[in-house]
Amino acid sequence: MNGLVFLLGGPDVGKTTLFKQVAQEFLSAGLRVGLIDSDVGQSTIGPPTTIGMVIAEEKLPDFSHPQAIYFVGNNNPVGHLLEVMVGSRRLVGKAVKAGVDVIVFDSSGLVQPPYGLALKYNKLELLRPQRIIAVEKKDELGPILSWLSCWDTEILHMRPSEKARARSASERTKYRQEKYRQYFEGAFLKTLDLNELCLYPPNFLSDRVDPIELLVGLQDDKWDTVAIGIIESLTDDTISIYAPYPPGVNIRGLVGGYIGLLRDGSEIGKIQPRQVL
Ligand SMILES: Nc1ncnc2c1ncn2[C@@H]1O[C@H](COP(=O)(O)OP(=O)(O)OP(=O)(O)O)[C@@H](O)[C@H]1O
Ligand SMILES: [Mg+2]
Repeated sequence: MNGLVFLLGGPDVGKTTLFKQVAQEFLSAGLRVGLIDSDVGQSTIGPPTTIGMVIAEEKLPDFSHPQAIYFVGNNNPVGHLLEVMVGSRRLVGKAVKAGVDVIVFDSSGLVQPPYGLALKYNKLELLRPQRIIAVEKKDELGPILSWLSCWDTEILHMRPSEKARARSASERTKYRQEKYRQYFEGAFLKTLDLNELCLYPPNFLSDRVDPIELLVGLQDDKWDTVAIGIIESLTDDTISIYAPYPPGVNIRGLVGGYIGLLRDGSEIGKIQPRQVL
């Protein structure tokens, strides 16, 4: 593998636009490219609340049908830094295993201390990219770049394109709703036997929170996320979840999320990690 190219920058600087352009350049050079999107809010690959991975050959594929997703459980990495870290590493491992020539890795705009700095420092430390494309408006990447200057990683320092434009909170909410809506096209309700499922957090279906309409990650027998779903009803022994179930996959694990979702893709409130952990 030729390595990993990491897109680093604050919000709205054009990271994702560059992410696609860089991947396209590798594709034009005849390489097999793994694209990973670790932004759980303004997700490009797969639905919000997940990290997504696609493998591309010749041209950029449809990002709404990823090869792999990892459920983080929220649309904001704050409070879920560990899950973002684990999911990023897992999907990089999957792309490497699939034999890609290069990985292009997009990240969220969370770069400010304390959470953004901790997230980016640890993610770069974990993934050790060969190349970083750092897009900076002013000096917001100063703390991260000063630490990176000690490394021999190649850093391409750029200013945002003049065409990059900021998106409002309501545009971001609307974008997420549309991404969920697309993802849940073809979803259906299925009732699963709770006695045959492993749950994490172990208590997330206890009466400390109301789980109805909570998002969940569905795992197969290798404990990979195969879909996300919405809990619609619960009895002592069964749980009914609305999800785009992949055909022929036996659901073995449920990972509780932290936001509620309606079938039309509207987010409806959150629970805090301390309520279930
Ligand atoms: N080179 C460009 N040409 C045209 N439009 C651009 C360009 N770069 C960015 N934009 C536009 O600016 C907006 C923000 O760009 P983009 O989504 O790539 O930024 P980002 O840094 O990934 O944002 P986020 O922080 O939400 O992840 C988008 O509407 C995008 O289409
Ligand atoms: Mg982006």
